[in-house]
Amino acid sequence: MPAGTAGGSGVRASFAEKEVMKILVVNGPNLNLLGTREIGIYGSETLGSLNERVRSKAAELGVEVVEFYQSNSEGELVSRIQKAGAEGVDGVVLNAAAYTHTSVALRDALAAVSVPFVEVHLSNVYGREPFRRHSYLSDVAVGVVAGFGGDSYLLGLEGLVKWLRRKRQNTDKPV
Ligand code: DQA
Repeated sequence: MPAGTAGGSGVRASFAEKEVMKILVVNGPNLNLLGTREIGIYGSETLGSLNERVRSKAAELGVEVVEFYQSNSEGELVSRIQKAGAEGVDGVVLNAAAYTHTSVALRDALAAVSVPFVEVHLSNVYGREPFRRHSYLSDVAVGVVAGFGGDSYLLGLEGLVKWLRRKRQNTDKPV
């Protein structure tokens, strides 16, 4: 029997063997327009193409993306985060777009469900207008990745998965 596995009937998986990690990807307002929206800032890749790249990266990392969710509505984003808490999502890759800088409601939802999340941005929000330098989410996030275009999502996903694995294995060592 592998170390750490509970014996007897109704064998339970050890932490290390627990079922595949479930990741939710959430995109906020106007990100449905990627590919045509302010290409000089956000690039020409569509959200569909970016989602495919994230899915490949997830497969490479051995995790499952349960859903790619996008909404232009603050309330719908709050409801989706609440649902993530109830459905056992392990982690969230979140680009809350403009709501990053305005939404106490989204922050409260993330704090309420306490599902670990990484905040990602395509653009370097710290090199743009001053109002983009403040985030209501960063201090409750596991980490933040900004400025690498669509690669911010891939880097964020990798960082989040490694963080979750370290947490599962209760170690601060690289995994
Ligand atoms: C963004 C940056 C936000 O300031 C902006 O409102 C967005 C996109 C990004 O990915 O760079 O809509 O989150």
